[in-house]
Amino acid sequence: MNFIKYLEDRKLLVNNFLEKRTAKKGISRVDEAMAYSLLAGGKRLRPILLMAAADAVGGNGYNYLSVACGLEMIHTYSLIHDDLPVMDNDDYRRGRLTNHKVYGEALALLAGDGLLTLAFEVMLEQKNIAPEVLIETVKEVAMCAGNYGMVGGQVLDLDSEDKQITQAQMRTLHEAKTGALFIAAVRSGARMAGAKSEELLAMTHFAELFGLAFQITDDIMDVESTKEEMGKNSGSDAKLNKSTYVTLYTLEGAKALAEKTLHEALECLEPFGPKAEPLREITKMLYNRKN
Ligand code: IPE
Ligand code: IPE
Ligand code: MG
Ligand code: MG
Ligand code: MG
Repeated sequence: MNFIKYLEDRKLLVNNFLEKRTAKKGISRVDEAMAYSLLAGGKRLRPILLMAAADAVGGNGYNYLSVACGLEMIHTYSLIHDDLPVMDNDDYRRGRLTNHKVYGEALALLAGDGLLTLAFEVMLEQKNIAPEVLIETVKEVAMCAGNYGMVGGQVLDLDSEDKQITQAQMRTLHEAKTGALFIAAVRSGARMAGAKSEELLAMTHFAELFGLAFQITDDIMDVESTKEEMGKNSGSDAKLNKSTYVTLYTLEGAKALAEKTLHEALECLEPFGPKAEPLREITKMLYNRKN
């Protein structure tokens, strides 16, 4: 398998879908603000993971582009809101000025709302799937994105500023803030492609560990990587006195934990054999990532 080509093909597919979908305009200038952040690039990791999880259980990830791109819309909205002055107050994202720096805070807030809402419209347009499976999938995405998942995790993150939290609290925070959307991605792909219940369980464990490792490495990059490498400012966590894996475990400790967690994530994929090769390669990319 040529993994570079696998990634490029899927990224192109996602970008084309998002471009086409944002060309359909609403009634106001919020469309421009939505497209500004959505089409700014980004690794497109969640939609690609969704497709790779479908491939891993013997399906074809290409069939589930609507749900995959809906997830990218939810992720992008979360970034716009995360960067707002009332939250992390960041000026750069995906290599360009943050949404509120260009459009102002009110429009950035509404662009996030617009993307979150559009995501559900787009996910429900998914073809090639039985209605009851789509309902179950979209419901789970909603739960992972909301107060049980990402939004809840963002609040735990706010509550962790200026204080020492325990290792268990840190894990809960990361699993919700970042892990939940990865769980949604991987489980959605596997479920829509017809995964058996034991396969879905193994995929869930994989995604939990992947998401945890992803946020640990995000915390490491906030200390080590440059703005040019990441397309967003470094030092954001320290500026806000956030609890992160680096503050709790030290830089070396966080690196060791990321490596251990990634190793465990790879173990969860063993039952899937060669079909899970793309998922394995995506996981290996997280070792030493710079963006
Ligand atoms: C950044 O996510 C926010 C976190 C959850 C840490 P990504 O690193 O996937 O950002 P993009 O989509 O590539 O911009
Ligand atoms: C935010 O985590 C994750 C989201 C749910 C958006 P961070 O605040 O660490 O993400 P970055 O570093 O700004 O991308
Ligand atoms: Mg944040
Ligand atoms: Mg942030
Ligand atoms: Mg960060």
